[in-house]
Amino acid sequence: MIEINATNDKNKNYKYITSICKDMLLIEKSVSANFSNITAVINELMDGLNWVGFYIIEDGELVLNTFQGKVACTRIAIGKGVCGTAVETKEVQLVEDVHQFPGHIACDGDTNSELVVPIIVNGDVYGVLDIDSPIVNRFTEIEKDCIVEVVRLIEEFLGNK
Ligand code: SME
Repeated sequence: MIEINATNDKNKNYKYITSICKDMLLIEKSVSANFSNITAVINELMDGLNWVGFYIIEDGELVLNTFQGKVACTRIAIGKGVCGTAVETKEVQLVEDVHQFPGHIACDGDTNSELVVPIIVNGDVYGVLDIDSPIVNRFTEIEKDCIVEVVRLIEEFLGNK
């Protein structure tokens, strides 16, 4: 059992996110168990979020996987929305205001900013880790670095399977 205690220090909390995820991925080999707990850890230690979750590529499109938040759309085509764009470009999408992003898919009407990091294993996109906030411009390079590091750990874990 891992007990999580958030502090008032954002940088400490973000270091905590990566160190807990690293430990969890070493201890547990189930992908779904790890993905579930990773969404819970991020949701608990990063404030101002309304949705955290995974979409995984199945039959050429993104399919909803483990998440924390409101009911979400189940399938996203490659190249569509923020998530599909992250897959197509293989690049992190840091969107300050989703209403300015052409083709943004509104799953939760409360969302105003979004951070999507592609998960790439052996050169192929496996899926994305998607984080939403009701606050415009919630995500900076600091949040991006933290989530990119979490995804790097996931890529290492999946690559060793
Ligand atoms: N907004 C995303 C869709 C997924 S939800 O945010 C959970 C997009 O535009 O791809």
